[in-house]
Amino acid sequence: MMRSLAWGGVILLPVVVLGGLWGARRDPTQPNWQLPTQMAASPAYRAQTGNPVLAGGGTLQPPVPGTLARGAHAFHYAPTDADRQRAGVELRNPVPATPRSLKEGKRLYDTFCATCHGATGNGDGPIIPKFPNPPSFHSEQSRKLRDGEVFHTITLGRKKMASYAAQLSREERWQVVRYIRSLQAARP
Ligand code: HEC
Repeated sequence: MMRSLAWGGVILLPVVVLGGLWGARRDPTQPNWQLPTQMAASPAYRAQTGNPVLAGGGTLQPPVPGTLARGAHAFHYAPTDADRQRAGVELRNPVPATPRSLKEGKRLYDTFCATCHGATGNGDGPIIPKFPNPPSFHSEQSRKLRDGEVFHTITLGRKKMASYAAQLSREERWQVVRYIRSLQAARP
């Protein structure tokens, strides 16, 4: 009697364990079973949708005037000659002229500027004459530009030249300024 009970246990145990595992298995592509709570599925508006609550009817709101996004820098200059000169007086290049910054400046210049300005800054890049000549960086007037004026030109563009603020970060623009200075210095 006792023996047959023990044997019964030996057979039953795996059946119960495996059967339990099989019964509790779940589809990993489905969310877990959860208590009815609003915490998991919040009723928040999606960013890019209309919004009946906020002014303007949109969920995305413009930044509060006078605030800057994290990592952004203020640039209080208009695309005018007067403001370009003011930038020349007020701004200093924060990037030191190290071999590393010059190497990076060269890489960026060759990528974004040399098409028009030419590899050595002569204003004779491969796109000329399909695009009007930019002035040579070795001209008297380009040499006289202050670092801040060059930075202003790259940031806001100038006449036929577009702004490169979207392609180059603030630090990268200053690295390019360093590199242009080194091109000018290399040719007395
Ligand atoms: C599509 C062609 C083109 C590209 C690319 C370009 N530029 Fe220019 N750039 C011009 C033209 C044209 C001018 C002359 C604008 C004017 O009429 O004052 C100019 C003017 C300038 C000036 C002012 C020169 C002066 O003597 O006043 C600077 C500085 C300058 N560019 C820097 C850059 C830098 C740095 C880059 C790369 C980030 C760049 N440019 C990319 C076409 C270009």
